[in-house]
Amino acid sequence: MKKLNIGIIGYGFMGRAHSNAYRKVNHFFDLKYQPILKAVCARNADNAKAFAEKWGYASVETDWRKLIERDDVDLIDICTPNNTHAEIAIAAARAGKMILCEKPLALNAEEAEKMVAAVEKAKVANMVWYNYRRCPAVVLAKQLIDEGKLGRIFHYRAKFLQDWTISPDLPQGGAALWRLDVKAAGSGVTGDLLAHCIDTAMWLNGSIDSVSAMTETFIKERKHQLTGKVEKVGIDDACAFLARFSNGSLATFESTRYARGHKALYTFEINGEHASIFWDLHDLHRLQYFDHRDEGRVRGWRNIHVSDGDQPYMKNWWVPGLQIGYEHSFVHQVADFLAGLADGKPARPDFKDGLATDYATDAVLKSARTGQWEKVKKAK
Ligand SMILES: NC(=O)c1ccc[n+]([C@@H]2O[C@H](COP(=O)([O-])OP(=O)(O)OC[C@H]3O[C@@H](n4cnc5c(N)ncnc54)[C@H](O)[C@@H]3O)[C@@H](O)[C@H]2O)c1
Repeated sequence: MKKLNIGIIGYGFMGRAHSNAYRKVNHFFDLKYQPILKAVCARNADNAKAFAEKWGYASVETDWRKLIERDDVDLIDICTPNNTHAEIAIAAARAGKMILCEKPLALNAEEAEKMVAAVEKAKVANMVWYNYRRCPAVVLAKQLIDEGKLGRIFHYRAKFLQDWTISPDLPQGGAALWRLDVKAAGSGVTGDLLAHCIDTAMWLNGSIDSVSAMTETFIKERKHQLTGKVEKVGIDDACAFLARFSNGSLATFESTRYARGHKALYTFEINGEHASIFWDLHDLHRLQYFDHRDEGRVRGWRNIHVSDGDQPYMKNWWVPGLQIGYEHSFVHQVADFLAGLADGKPARPDFKDGLATDYATDAVLKSARTGQWEKVKKAK
C-alpha cells in the first residue's frame, strides 16, 4: 500500500468531514493508497494542536505557505473560506502538490480559470469536493439516467433551502460567519448552495446553455464581526433562476437562507418521457422513482431504500437494509480519488468541472444584475 501524506488547511466543518473520511476510507474500501494525516494548518496554533491531537495529525503548521513547502506532504486539502482557495491552490500546484479543494472552486470564474491553468501546467491530480455526487441514491439516479430509463428529459427542478440568517442581529464576517461577508464568500446562496445544485445537475443532465435569474438581499446592513461597524451586506440572501440545458430540457433552481423551518432541504426532481426521479437530502439514502412503463394497476412512485450490495457503494458498508449518511459521501469521494490515482483514471469533479460550475454561478449573478438571459460559458 502506497502512503499519501495529507496536509489539510482549516479545521472547521469541512476539516472535520474530510479528516473523518481519510481515517475511515481504508477500513471500508480496498485501495492501493493510504492517506496519512501528516499535518493540519490553521492560524491559531493552540486550536490546530488540539485538532491534531483529536484527529491524529502528526504535526501542525500556522502558515499554509510553510505546509506547501514541506517535502513530506504530497497532497494539500483546502478547507478554508472561498477567498483563500485560489491563492493556496495555485501555490500548491506550483510546488507540485496534489490538491483537493472545497467548493465553490473560487470566488468567481476568473480566479477559477487561473486555478485550472495552474494544475494543468503542473500536471497534478486535482478534485473539488462536490460531495453530493457521491450519495449512493444520487449515483443510482445517474445510472438510471445514463441507461436511458427516463428517456428524453423535459424538466430539472432543484431547491436548496435554509433558514439560519433571518435575524437582522446576526453579524457578518469573521469565524463561522464568513459566508455572510461577500469579500470572503464571493456571493451568498448562489456560490454556497446553488453551486451544489448546479454541479449535481450538470453531472446528471449535461451542460446549461443559458440562465435568467433574480436575487435579493433581504437584510441590507449588518454589523461586521471583525470591524465592529455596521456595513452594507454584499451577498445574495436568496436566488431563483430559470435555465435551459443543452439537451433541450427546462429547469428551475431556487435557494434561500430565509425559508423558515428548513435547515438543509436540498431536493431535485427530474421528469423524463418514461420516468421521473426525486431525491431529498433530508432522506438521502432514498430515491423516489416513477416509471410509466410499469403495469397500470400497480404503477406509482417507488420509494427505493438504497442499501443493498448491488446499489452504488453499498457493498462496502453494512448488510442490506442498513443505511449510511452524510459523512459517507466524503469517504466515497476520497475512495474514488485514491482509486483514480492507482488506475490512472482521475476521479471527478476536477478543477475544470469546478470551473464549469463557476461559469454557471457567474452567469446567474450577472443575469440577476442585468435582468437579461445570460449565456453560460463552457469549460473547455
Ligand atoms: N462540500 C460541502 O458540502 C461543503 C460544506 C460546507 C462548507 N464547504 C466549503 O468548505 C470551505 C470551508 O467551509 P467550512 O464550513 O468548513 O468553514 P469553517 O468556518 O467551519 O472553517 C474554516 C476554517 O478555515 C480556517 N481558516 C480561515 N482562513 C485561513 C487561513 N488563511 N489559513 C488557515 N486556515 C484558515 C478557519 O480557522 C477554520 O478552521 C468553504 O469553501 C465552503 O464553501 C463545503
